[in-house]
Amino acid sequence: MNATATREPHRVGPLADRLNGILASRGIDLATAAEEAHGEPVTALELADARIPARYRRALADHPKVTAWADQIARAGRPGPGGPGIAKGPSLLIAGPTGTGKTYQAYGAIRALLARGVRLRWEATTTADLHARLRPRVGHDAERDLRSLACCPLLLLDDLGAAKTSEWTEELTYRLINHRYEHMLPTLITTNLPTDQLRSALGDRVASRLAEMTDRVVLDGTDRRRRTVSAA
Ligand SMILES: Nc1ncnc2c1ncn2[C@@H]1O[C@H](COP(=O)(O)OP(=O)(O)O)[C@@H](O)[C@H]1O
Ligand SMILES: [Mg+2]
Repeated sequence: MNATATREPHRVGPLADRLNGILASRGIDLATAAEEAHGEPVTALELADARIPARYRRALADHPKVTAWADQIARAGRPGPGGPGIAKGPSLLIAGPTGTGKTYQAYGAIRALLARGVRLRWEATTTADLHARLRPRVGHDAERDLRSLACCPLLLLDDLGAAKTSEWTEELTYRLINHRYEHMLPTLITTNLPTDQLRSALGDRVASRLAEMTDRVVLDGTDRRRRTVSAA
């Protein structure tokens, strides 16, 4: 990890104000990050944590295949002045029934990369939110939005196949996955669908690309959410 890059405190001044504005517009809550750092300089991991939904803010990828994927991506990072940049490489498909920890492992993987000092720009969305976000509406450039997700160096696409589909959503998913497939952009995908149902649910074009571009992790066990309730 490059300590200079990740330990640089945010100084007060016009530049810091502008930076805070930009971070706020991207949903980064600096105040939360700073508070959680107990007055210590805010690190890249702490900044990223502020963007991660509270439930997964301390997620640790503990599945061996997930840590292996993060290791591989981190090791392949292009050297840069502020630490290694995220490289092109394989994607990861995390499958399993509801509540088995798919989203937890996915955020854990992002946190593992950040903890290793990998400089990365990442976006996360559920498929249902993606559809809502890109639905044509006046004054919104959905093409631009799709392009920015398609080109983002690391994307978490959560709950693929869980949202209601239509020809329009199928085309959208195809364009997103195909761009990331062609450019070998690391993508974390979670799905409730068993592998043998990917084709029928997502279409052959998407399923075929996923087969080539992703390492697979299948989580099993009971629903962790219900375990918590019954233990309480
Ligand atoms: N390895 C883990 N250690 C501790 N808590 C976990 C772990 N995996 C999942 N959880 C917790 O279990 C719950 C369900 O996990 P989640 O990732 O949301 O499941 P899924 O995405 O598979 O539906 C969440 O509260 C999550 O924080
Ligand atoms: Mg989930």
